[in-house]
Amino acid sequence: MIKRREQMIRLDTQNTTLVIKADTAEYLYYGKRLGNGFEFGAYAGGGKKLFSAPGKDDYTEYSILFENADGGFVADFTFSKVRILPEKPEIPGLPSSYGEGKTLELKYVDTTRAALYLYYTVFEDSDVIAVSARLFNGTKKDLRIRRFMSLQMDLPGTEYNIVTFEGAWARERNKVSREISSGIFVNDSKRGMSSHARNPFIMAEDERGVYGFNLVYSGNHKETIEAGDPGRTRVLTGINDFMFDWTLPVGETFCSPEAVMCFAPDEDTLSTRFHFFVSEHIVRGKWKKKERPVLVNNWEGTYFDFNEEKLLAIAEAAKKTGVELFVLDDGWFGKRDSDTCSLGDWYDNLEKTGGGLASLGEKIRALGLSFGIWVEPEMISEDSDLYRAHPNFAMKIPGRTPTRMRNQLMLNMADERVQNYVVRVISDVIARSGAEYVKWDFNRSMTDCYGKGIFPGEYFHRYMLGYYRVVSKIMKKFPSVLFEGCAGGGGRFDLGNLCYFAQYWTSDDTDARMRIDIQAGSSYGYPQTVMGAHVSASPNHQTGNSNSLDARFNVACGGLLGYELDMTKFTPQEMEEVAQQIEFYKENRKLLQFGDQYRIDEKFVKGFITVSKDKSMAIAVLNQTVAYPAMPLVTVRLKGLSETTVYDVTRRDGKGSFTAEGDLLMNGDLPLPDLFDRETVFRNSGGLSSCMYILKKRKN
Ligand code: DGJ
Repeated sequence: MIKRREQMIRLDTQNTTLVIKADTAEYLYYGKRLGNGFEFGAYAGGGKKLFSAPGKDDYTEYSILFENADGGFVADFTFSKVRILPEKPEIPGLPSSYGEGKTLELKYVDTTRAALYLYYTVFEDSDVIAVSARLFNGTKKDLRIRRFMSLQMDLPGTEYNIVTFEGAWARERNKVSREISSGIFVNDSKRGMSSHARNPFIMAEDERGVYGFNLVYSGNHKETIEAGDPGRTRVLTGINDFMFDWTLPVGETFCSPEAVMCFAPDEDTLSTRFHFFVSEHIVRGKWKKKERPVLVNNWEGTYFDFNEEKLLAIAEAAKKTGVELFVLDDGWFGKRDSDTCSLGDWYDNLEKTGGGLASLGEKIRALGLSFGIWVEPEMISEDSDLYRAHPNFAMKIPGRTPTRMRNQLMLNMADERVQNYVVRVISDVIARSGAEYVKWDFNRSMTDCYGKGIFPGEYFHRYMLGYYRVVSKIMKKFPSVLFEGCAGGGGRFDLGNLCYFAQYWTSDDTDARMRIDIQAGSSYGYPQTVMGAHVSASPNHQTGNSNSLDARFNVACGGLLGYELDMTKFTPQEMEEVAQQIEFYKENRKLLQFGDQYRIDEKFVKGFITVSKDKSMAIAVLNQTVAYPAMPLVTVRLKGLSETTVYDVTRRDGKGSFTAEGDLLMNGDLPLPDLFDRETVFRNSGGLSSCMYILKKRKN
């Protein structure tokens, strides 16, 4: 709800309140929901600003910097007007949240007639506020924008614990916390992607609660935290100003991506609010609320070494276990037997697919499975017909040796001709294969940015605009197809992509032990509904760790279940075990995929509990992550249950059951003396000890 009394504006969600004073461009309050009063006057003058431009008396990191029409960097925006718009304005060319209308628009004008617009949309149901900014060039000269952040939030005080989600390829989004009480801290990406290294989602915590910030953007991002004089902590989030220099012609507008923020009393509540927001207001289309199929992907099963016979054998085995979708990963096109060639040659390799995608797809469907394919549309191999025909489609600087990563170059997606070409060829692949699922991969960071006629300072953002144009055009043509995003695992796992992709491959690390942290880290800002999670071979191909089939399944139930291994290699017992797993998963799929998930994070036990919306059922996966002789007793407190409901609790492995009230399960310390399963752990050379508990409301 947005309420206005003169220049005082109150934005309320179910559980939070934001108060803005429009004429002085300041925040008066952001935090837990206040009573209905409007007496905020005494809170003005606290120096918590909505935006900042340098050159006047604000010396903290600023949100806006541009070369103004009068020749300096100074911009002195003064208040012009407030409007409450009935419809949330779209951000041209960029993805954004949807499903809520009322938006506060604030306008500030400089003496040069450059105008700054700020937008605040209130998502009452999820306690999220979406914020974006626009700069209109009403001057008589081009403006050069050097920095234009989406959101500035000045928090009171200087004692915040700043939490980020960091890592690298195959170990994305591990939680990192540090106290920032003075100085400047930056979390960013300069890789042309939101990156494996630093996700745009961050949190600022103090004793009052947790503020969460995220950006609806998939390219270079920057989150700056500055604490210190004058007694506040400034949070900025937006496009990274690294190599950013955008010329804004007279009469035109530059739009920032959308940022989103939320306040909650604790981390679990903040996650629940963001989960709801992402599920309701970011993910869209046919698959938004539809149960996702159990898939088998051939990548870790075969890598590039496959032919039709092998693929059909895997599909047949998968069908017997209850799998619903067969995904043909990398290697089906051109002469792609390794990662050194053929990206861009999206024509079927007949030897490997036995007559092309269409005929393979038909055979897979005849087995009773849906058919899905892998593509990597933004890339080009130098050893490809596409490169030989159009070397200028590649992103490289003339006369300079380009940087290769995974032996490949990128396409210059900032160029409209290249965009149109990609739309045409990828649409053709999807149409001719009849694919019901498409995995869209992206396996390198951006370097050697260059496009003829494109100013270097505009390149990164123009690439993103091109990418979003291509993705949205292709997806509009195939509204029924389930698109899963991927970037060498979770390198572009962000809200921008989730506006297009209903699910995202979380990480190339499929080791259940590593996945516990990767999935838990991801779950702070993103729901399990978008996280691909696969059971792969043991020993694991990335880490060499061994884990039981049961543990691998349990951990994968924390996301969208798939199998990624050669199922023909299963023993009859393993086939039977997997069939039981999938049967169980299908019976509980709605709960596991769309229930409310909470992290379990105790000293020796990590995992999750997913609770049905009506709290009548829950599934908990408890993993004992360390074991040594004379271990202290391992205990756990569950979360998210109904305090007054009595639950019958059973182990999925049939090794025990008990009954307890939700209140006790959440507040008592449940002893787990049998969690460490010596036999399984020793058989799997130190593997994970994991157990799934099923909780059902006791019938009276
Ligand atoms: C990286 C992806 O994350 C993998 O799942 C697989 O698709 C490979 N690329 C294929 O090249």
